[in-house]
Amino acid sequence: MKKNILVIPGDGIGPEVTAWGKAVLTEIAELSGHEFTFDEGLMGHAAIEAEGNPLPDETLEKARRSDAILFGAVGHALYDNDPSLKVRPEQGLLKIRKELGLYANLRPILLFDELLEASSIKSSILKGTDILFFRELTGDVYFGEKQRSEDRNTASDLMIYHKYEVERIAHKAFEAAMQRGRKLCSVDKANVLESSRLWRETVQEVAKSYPEVETVHMFVDNAAMQLIKDPKQFDVVLTANLFGDILTDEASQIAGSMGMLASASVGDGTGFFEPIHGSAHDIAGKNIANPLASILSVALMLEISFGLKEEAQLIISAIDQVLKEGYRTADIADKNTSASHLLGTAEMGGLVLKFIKQKS
Ligand code: NAD
Ligand code: IPM
Ligand code: MN
Repeated sequence: MKKNILVIPGDGIGPEVTAWGKAVLTEIAELSGHEFTFDEGLMGHAAIEAEGNPLPDETLEKARRSDAILFGAVGHALYDNDPSLKVRPEQGLLKIRKELGLYANLRPILLFDELLEASSIKSSILKGTDILFFRELTGDVYFGEKQRSEDRNTASDLMIYHKYEVERIAHKAFEAAMQRGRKLCSVDKANVLESSRLWRETVQEVAKSYPEVETVHMFVDNAAMQLIKDPKQFDVVLTANLFGDILTDEASQIAGSMGMLASASVGDGTGFFEPIHGSAHDIAGKNIANPLASILSVALMLEISFGLKEEAQLIISAIDQVLKEGYRTADIADKNTSASHLLGTAEMGGLVLKFIKQKS
């Protein structure tokens, strides 16, 4: 198999963690005889610095030509601290999602048993949790019209959904539920928002085509609470762009850390694989970021875009072994982690590579 992969490292810890995702892809290619070629693209603050544009045309063209994209993160303290700046790193990410038609963002809450103690939630509540979020990614308040009054004292973002946008992601989520535990929870705010009433109506209609799936509807405020109270009740969670963004950062604590959550953005064309975390300026450049979310994003790429299930499983089992042997980055360390097992980004990435080699 011959595949061309575009790597977009981005900003902050993006390049640090993406380097290990790429190294794992290179290792997998070597072991399995597949040929992966790599290209690189600029996005975010790095692209603004170089070209004055958070998503240069060249990056978008490379993205369209590639078979899959591995992305790190974008964002910089400069813009976070100055909301008046008009050109912003995150615009690049939103634009590429829209341009590539990446309307479904799959965020698996993959809980390694070894990390039960790393979470701030009790192990007895967590054990056995396995959730797959379907976050709608190209609609909602993210893409509705934005306005600011002339006197700058009033601002609005339009929360908008079209029926077809809800239908297409609902079908994807129900199809996934059919392959999993046959339970789907659609999360909205239909008691208040008209766009959520359209969401709920549409999901109810789509649900009729999947009678084997037990479907429930939950308000987002309750869902935020239920995720911590009893995460095992969820199988597939289907939700809108903003609610999904917030709930999955919350759900990362089920898996132990933001540094453990991978995602796959799919839709009309090329798949886009990215950790759910951001550029984490607070830890950037210090070799302490957890690279496992990027490496797990590569596993999703291999499985979803290339159909290489065994190779994806090999990566997961190498990570499992690293964790079983007690190795941790700082974000997932617990009271049992000894100093000799506390690893930096590069050491963790290197160890995963070593175990992949050993297991193949
Ligand atoms: P963040 O996800 O960057 O960080 C939140 C917290 O989680 C921080 O304490 C950070 O140190 C920690 N963390 C994140 N990833 C980690 C990892 N791999 N290993 C260990 N710890 C990790 O969110 P934030 O601080 O709200 O945002 C920082 C910047 O990132 C902002 O500019 C924001 O816009 C951007 N952002 C980008 C993306 C993306 O590119 N997909 C996602 C979220 C935030
Ligand atoms: C994410 C991020 C992005 C989002 C930002 C950076 C635009 O938080 O990928 O989760 O809100 O979608
Ligand atoms: Mn987010």
